[in-house]
Amino acid sequence: MKTVLITGGASGIGLLCGQCYAKEGENVVLVDINQEALDARVAEIKEYHENVLGICIDIRNYESVKAACKQTFDTFGSIDILINCAGGAEVRIMNAKGKFHEIPIEVYDFGIDVNLKGAMYFDHAAMHYMAQQMSGVIIHLGSITGEEGSSNNIAYAASKSALMNGMTKAIAKAGAEYNVRCCYVAPGPVMTRPAMANMKTLMGRAAETQEIVDLIMYLASDKASFITGSGILADCGRNVMDRK
Ligand SMILES: NC(=O)c1ccc[n+]([C@@H]2O[C@H](COP(=O)([O-])OP(=O)(O)OC[C@H]3O[C@@H](n4cnc5c(N)ncnc54)[C@H](O)[C@@H]3O)[C@@H](O)[C@H]2O)c1
Repeated sequence: MKTVLITGGASGIGLLCGQCYAKEGENVVLVDINQEALDARVAEIKEYHENVLGICIDIRNYESVKAACKQTFDTFGSIDILINCAGGAEVRIMNAKGKFHEIPIEVYDFGIDVNLKGAMYFDHAAMHYMAQQMSGVIIHLGSITGEEGSSNNIAYAASKSALMNGMTKAIAKAGAEYNVRCCYVAPGPVMTRPAMANMKTLMGRAAETQEIVDLIMYLASDKASFITGSGILADCGRNVMDRK
């Protein structure tokens, strides 16, 4: 039985990862800042799977991240897969209005802290256990925005680009001697929110959440044992669209 630790596990892609791993019988740990949603989702999973744990923390706090990894290891005896889903575009999350230079700098500090540093904190804390185990897989959630940029979600674009490039490669290098792989999945629009249907793709639709979760679970599985330091852009061809 594997232990899968998922950040941002109370909603969207992270939640569906947790539900799918629970159905496969794995130990599941959902980490999220939203206590109410986390408690409700963990209770739902408990109806069909006993080995699920919810940990409510803010991933911007390294001591909390370290404690979450320790609690996971102490409860289930390993951290086999880490999926860094927590995050999102700072301008949307903070409900900021205006152009880049009009938006307070604190909004961008928040964007970097959640999207980049939160994942770095979890990679660091989880690697401690994965190195002892001599095994593990770390997945980063990138984004098409990390490829194409954004006129006001600057921290989100920069963080996702960093996760997909520098950090996935760096963690793959750091983890290789311990048999720890690191990959990214960079989605285009995913229907975790109705508004995502408005974002254009080459084939004219957003992804069902399951399509992205299937890809994450493939890269985290032994079937992808030869893949590390790289990832997949799953954007339904948005990156090759002709722009007017
Ligand atoms: N949905 C999309 O279209 C899309 C596209 C590209 C990339 N992504 C990426 O995929 C990931 C998941 O997206 P989603 O649509 O499922 O998001 P979501 O908003 O449904 O879920 C994100 C979860 O992260 C949690 N979270 C946010 N800040 C946190 C913090 N500081 N500490 C702990 N938990 C925190 C939220 O409470 C929420 O439950 C994100 O990293 C996102 O950037 C999503």
